[in-house]
Amino acid sequence: MNKVKSIKNICCIGAGYVGGPTMAVIAQKCPHINVHVVDLNEQRIADWNDADLDKLPIYEPGLAEVVAEARGRNLKFSTDVEKAIDEAELIFISVNTPTKTYGVGKGMAADLKFIELCARQIAKVAKDDKIIVEKSTLPVRTAEALRTILHSTGNGVKFEILSSPEFLAEGTAIQDLHNPDRFLIGGAPTESGEAAVQALVDVYLNWVPRENIVTTRVWSSELSKLTANAFLAQRVSSINAISALCEKTGADVDEIAHAIGKDSRIGAKFLKSSVGFGGSCFQKDILNLVYLCRHFNLPEVADYWEQVIKMNDYQKHRFSKNIIDTLFNTVSGKKIAFLGWAFKKDTNDTRESAAIYVADELLQDRAEIHVYDPKVSEEQIYADLEYLQTNRRPQTVIASETKQSVEYSTLSMEEIRSLVTVHKDPYTAMESAHAIAVLTEWDEFKTYDWGKVYNEMLKPAFVFDGRNIVDKDQLDVIGFEIYNIGKGN
Ligand code: UDX
Ligand code: UDX
Repeated sequence: MNKVKSIKNICCIGAGYVGGPTMAVIAQKCPHINVHVVDLNEQRIADWNDADLDKLPIYEPGLAEVVAEARGRNLKFSTDVEKAIDEAELIFISVNTPTKTYGVGKGMAADLKFIELCARQIAKVAKDDKIIVEKSTLPVRTAEALRTILHSTGNGVKFEILSSPEFLAEGTAIQDLHNPDRFLIGGAPTESGEAAVQALVDVYLNWVPRENIVTTRVWSSELSKLTANAFLAQRVSSINAISALCEKTGADVDEIAHAIGKDSRIGAKFLKSSVGFGGSCFQKDILNLVYLCRHFNLPEVADYWEQVIKMNDYQKHRFSKNIIDTLFNTVSGKKIAFLGWAFKKDTNDTRESAAIYVADELLQDRAEIHVYDPKVSEEQIYADLEYLQTNRRPQTVIASETKQSVEYSTLSMEEIRSLVTVHKDPYTAMESAHAIAVLTEWDEFKTYDWGKVYNEMLKPAFVFDGRNIVDKDQLDVIGFEIYNIGKGN
């Protein structure tokens, strides 16, 4: 396989937040290539194929238009994994790689069982040489493990393994895919490795300028993904650390972010203080990095990065504790309205969303939580809370003032369903509430009739804005008691 293959058929295993949008854009931009996306989850595939584009399994601005253009032309979704593997010259693996919830590396290492399953299936089905591309975020040297499994059949089929991690951010995935800062491809420094890299470069070249395609060795590519996410998360934890100091001193964290962001060496992005970062990648990738460092006996490096997670735990805990403290030390039986459940705006993804952790802490005190999110389903909200009951990471953080850690009890499904109500209308969620907590920065929250909300709430009417997006001055005038992240009085 040492001459450059021209790619005519692409298969992608995993039709999730990464595989779905990425393949839709490849199909849109490369009408001469057949793109077949497969997934084990039949419902998910049915949703991708639904004639009603509102039913696509993930919400992402601009995605429906791209799918409408390519689906049925050269973009196909199915559960026929073997056929898709057999036909393709190039196979992307975009299955999820959650943090392990059992055994060695529990709570830290990436669970590679899905990746391993894919490799075994490819090895079983493939009759001719193929290029395998890791799209999922993986610990360094996973390519080695893949190589071992793929070449174990002894049937002479050759596989070239590339790493091409995805840097799209949810909520802006289509924009990020159309105009990427860079696409990264890692390959082996051999003749066949370079040919495989070139084949993938040629796919991306259909819409990405060559200077925006970075090529490296496989391990550098794998580690770049973890490093990029660790650096981004570190910025959020850094500004969140300063937010706590602002609240004590009367400084304003947004003013500080603006002032320091003007320094071109720092840059303005990713300096928005919040109730804490969420999403499927940041925490998982950092835990992964920490695990790797410990494995290679680098405890100082491991502790350094672990602090980014601890600061994030602290921020979520600080926010929840402030609600309880402010509401006269108990939220038991009180109605707390949650605006937002997704981990950021413009997505229906809730993985690791700060809202889940804040809710969990308030539920420990038996608060009555009323949630409104424009895109997240009721069942997802219950599923998130139920999952957390049996999968809590040991909390690293205790409030320094009190030195008290939260004693978590496990809530039953019935208790969760009796304490948490999900609303389709934001005003009913907020009616008669003791307090409102803003957990996601959805734009529509800025447009509410806050005078009406105030009139229908219990007094004093508290707002805890975990995103600093609602207009503080406007709410002050109306009469709300408002708490903002990183804004001292
Ligand atoms: C992402 C990225 O791929 C990963 O790098 C990141 O670290 C976290 O998750 P994402 O697309 O967001 O994956 O995950 P998800 O939406 O869960 O999609 C994965 C899909 O793979 C699911 O639809 C699942 O059903 C499918 N899958 C999983 C398979 O088809 N086969 C498997 O063996 C396992
Ligand atoms: C991230 C990376 O940005 C992306 O490159 C990678 O491929 C996957 O992980 P994503 O998790 O989709 O993307 O969203 P991102 O925009 O990075 O936000 C992550 C979290 O940080 C969100 O909860 C967001 O609200 C929070 N955040 C982000 C802040 O609190 N403040 C900021 O300034 C930026």
